[in-house]
Amino acid sequence: MLIKNKKRSDSSEFEVTDQSVYLNRRQFMQASGVIALGIGGVGTVAAAPQKGNPLSPPSSLKSAFANIAETPFGKVDKISPYDVASSYNNFYEFGYGKSDPKDKSSQFQTTPWTIRVEGEAGKTGVFDLEDIIKESMLEERIYRLRCVEAWSMVIPWVGISLATVLKRFEPTSKAKYVYFETLYDPKQMPGQRGGGLDWPYREGLRIDEAMHPLALLAVGMYGSILPNQNGAPVRLVLPWKYGFKSIKSIVKIRFVETMPETTWNMLAPNEYGFYANVNPNVDHPRWSQAQERRLPGGVLFPNVIETKMFNGYEEDVAGLYSGMDLKRNY
Ligand code: MTE
Repeated sequence: MLIKNKKRSDSSEFEVTDQSVYLNRRQFMQASGVIALGIGGVGTVAAAPQKGNPLSPPSSLKSAFANIAETPFGKVDKISPYDVASSYNNFYEFGYGKSDPKDKSSQFQTTPWTIRVEGEAGKTGVFDLEDIIKESMLEERIYRLRCVEAWSMVIPWVGISLATVLKRFEPTSKAKYVYFETLYDPKQMPGQRGGGLDWPYREGLRIDEAMHPLALLAVGMYGSILPNQNGAPVRLVLPWKYGFKSIKSIVKIRFVETMPETTWNMLAPNEYGFYANVNPNVDHPRWSQAQERRLPGGVLFPNVIETKMFNGYEEDVAGLYSGMDLKRNY
């Protein structure tokens, strides 16, 4: 990522939302045994929760967002306030400052939204996002997001298992990787009018990574739709990888045979690898990855914690990389 000296405003811009409504509801769900245990287990919620996200889903998605299934993912983590998660962002299409995405994306049009599916798959074509969402039950998953810049948050995402969606397109045996692309629309995305990155923003995964149960196609957070600055209307969330792999505002999915080019790797291959797994033992060439600043935190209370291997998801994902030299394959 770009190196920026920490601004004084980094801490003062955080407004800490009262999380009591959200937490009380979770405690109720736990006490009443609604939350199922075990990976992939879900319990359904009857009413649409209010979790600090003031946005309303469009009418066509109201019922989907009113029936979000709770999962056991991340129950132990303290959730970062919505106001922090939606105001301290990386979304270079809207500018390079942390507050640019929120400040400059309010007019971004996210409906209607289609995704083009191409490549090594039985079912290709252009699909309405609404249809993709409606075909599955939305789940809530509380995941840690660790940015390569050494800050992190804990966010309750709403989405669908990426594997569930990808399998519907019937990838062939030649689909060894999946490539994702963000919308390219310089009229709406001021950051794309200038240089810096080679637009559109691109990301990719090995097919087994993409099919891993932790990989999420997110369409919401904190109980409602994604704010524009967080990648509306649809993005990836890959909690064991550095945040830059979690590509926002996806318009293209391509199943491919060879490792695809990815934005940050193209820009600085010695700094940003294709895998980008969170790894406290492999430093970025210009800074340590051993620790992270868990937000909210600022100059007075930096809230620094130790970074865990695979961001704490080692038990789940280490098998994907067995036998691989993670220093070379960073
Ligand atoms: N996706 C696109 N299209 N453009 C971006 O600039 N930034 C990435 C990732 N996805 C980015 C993106 C980075 S560096 C991070 S850390 C996360 O989004 C940040 O997600 P958040 O703003 O929701 O916290």
